[in-house]
Amino acid sequence: MAEFLNGLKRTHLCAGIGKDTLDKEVTLMGWVQSRRDHGGVIFIDLRDQTGIAQVVFNPDISPESHVLAHSLKDEYVIAITGKVAKRPADSINEKLPTGFYEVMVDTLKILNECKPLPFPIEDSIDAGEATRLKYRYLDLRRGSMRNRLVMRHRLSAAIRSFLNARGFLELETPFLTRSTPEGARDYLVPSRVNPGKFFALPQSPQLFKQLFMIAGFEKYYQIVKCFRDEDLRADRQPEFTQVDMELSFVEAEDVRALTEHLITDIFKEVLDVSLPSPFPVLQFSEAMRRFGTDKPDLRIPWELSDFTELARNVDFKVFRSAAESGGIVKGLNAKGCATFSRKEIDDLLPEIQPYGARGLAWIKMTDQGAQSPILKFLHEGFVEELFKRMGAQSGDLLLFQADQASVANPALNHLRECLWKRLYPLSAEDFRPVWVINFPLLEYNPEEKRHIAMHHPFTSPLTEDIPLLKTDPGKVRAQSYDIVINGYEIGGGSIRNHAMALQEQIFSLLNIKAEEAKNKFGFLLEALSYGAPPHGGIALGFDRLAMIMSGAASIRDVIAFPKTQKAVCLLTDAPSGVAPSQLQDLYLKLIPPRK
Ligand code: AMO
Ligand code: AMP
Repeated sequence: MAEFLNGLKRTHLCAGIGKDTLDKEVTLMGWVQSRRDHGGVIFIDLRDQTGIAQVVFNPDISPESHVLAHSLKDEYVIAITGKVAKRPADSINEKLPTGFYEVMVDTLKILNECKPLPFPIEDSIDAGEATRLKYRYLDLRRGSMRNRLVMRHRLSAAIRSFLNARGFLELETPFLTRSTPEGARDYLVPSRVNPGKFFALPQSPQLFKQLFMIAGFEKYYQIVKCFRDEDLRADRQPEFTQVDMELSFVEAEDVRALTEHLITDIFKEVLDVSLPSPFPVLQFSEAMRRFGTDKPDLRIPWELSDFTELARNVDFKVFRSAAESGGIVKGLNAKGCATFSRKEIDDLLPEIQPYGARGLAWIKMTDQGAQSPILKFLHEGFVEELFKRMGAQSGDLLLFQADQASVANPALNHLRECLWKRLYPLSAEDFRPVWVINFPLLEYNPEEKRHIAMHHPFTSPLTEDIPLLKTDPGKVRAQSYDIVINGYEIGGGSIRNHAMALQEQIFSLLNIKAEEAKNKFGFLLEALSYGAPPHGGIALGFDRLAMIMSGAASIRDVIAFPKTQKAVCLLTDAPSGVAPSQLQDLYLKLIPPRK
């Protein structure tokens, strides 16, 4: 028995019930959060977008509403009219902003009913994520979820006002476009009017924002959806939002300074948090050396030590052969972990096997001296040097990886993070931003047996490294920068190649043949030859930023309607099959997946 409003107007919002409305008649509309019957009087917590107000049905004031109120259940939608009164002392709720007042109801209108709920609308629920996503509209009624989305809105508003005040233009770029290489697979959209042809949804607006620079729009931004078909994790979604920016006549320092200012401002505005200033800056090589990762969580003070050179002269085969075969030998001093039992230490290996680790050498520092199965293979001088460089003291557990850098570094960083967290819980309210800059321009892809761009192929090399493009391309550093907060890559960008010849040279290094380059990026190369200004930019991962700022564990918690780790939407059941006639319209035929 749903009813329309039929002219009834809401006069106030729940959060507005207070001193200013005392003794006034108000009409509120919202959802029944809960109902309590107390000796003939019925209390309802009424919830709307702004909060909760208590409304009271007293048979002496309105017998008719009181009778009707007996039928109210959780999440019924109602409108009430009544007079605001002070609560009696025994029913004051100091935790609620409206907790000193209540509305004595004259009339009640039931606007809609609600089926029994799959889970209660409360902050602490034990419903699984699949249920929450299937009934996302109910999940979003919960205060914790609503607060995150409200914060997301405040964040985008703060970003827009910051950039608007600095002369940036918010300009749109197309979704139906050509592939933009950012390292993931494309989502393709078949074209009905051009049989056999496909659009790609943009992995980022990269090419268009560069075209804006060439078109003379010197400061561009957009808060924009990007689409990437890649393996999902807690901090990745197939469609996600970037704060995308590009500027002309700037260098890397200028883009970093602007971004740092933006991030500092929004943390202050939205969270009232003052970030440490200026943000520390790490060269990529330094980040890898000290932390084993290009996204170090600086809340963790532990650093890695490198023993590769020394390891060439030890008898211990595991160390020596790694050093001699182009690998590295690095150690982590897990301070305070010497209390670990043999089993607890053995259990660390499975933790790092996903990174390819094949073993884990360790030395326990105890009051009785160092204990380790590998000590017998190491000469005294080497051991002394290990202890000295690692600052080893009684109570410490020294852990070592001897392997290719691509295995040893991430494995040790994983131990660094997980062991620190075991001993000292990390505070989600401690924000430690850091810039990581000058990444290698290229990385070698052993599967494709060629270099690929580490950021994207439009990134320019450091000027002093340009000669290396011809002689030792793997050593060329890029004019690139990532902003990392608490171990998450929050954004990345670079200065671009505005000279056509340099861009062509890089395409050829990437083994993108002239013809392929012309076919895929011909429009960009041509545009570069019509007076392209020096330019560069950055894109921030808006969902990741919202996740970190709200202390959420996953970006799914800050996205209203996210996909699961399997890239499906449980609410709408997308993606779905389509009718044969639709396929026919698109000139498409399905091949069954290989078993
Ligand atoms: P990049 O690929 O580094 O750069 O992306 C920028 C930022 O976007 C976020 N991000 C994601 N967030 C959620 N889910 C995903 N699947 C996902 N992928 C990336 C990250 C990342 O730092 N065009 C360049 C930017 C530039 O050069 O200006 C680009 O897209 O936080
Ligand atoms: P092994 O010679 O394989 O018996 O290994 C001797 C010790 O070195 C064991 O404690 C192994 O866990 C450790 N170990 C083996 N491979 C590695 C490696 N790649 N890095 C670090 N330690 C290793």
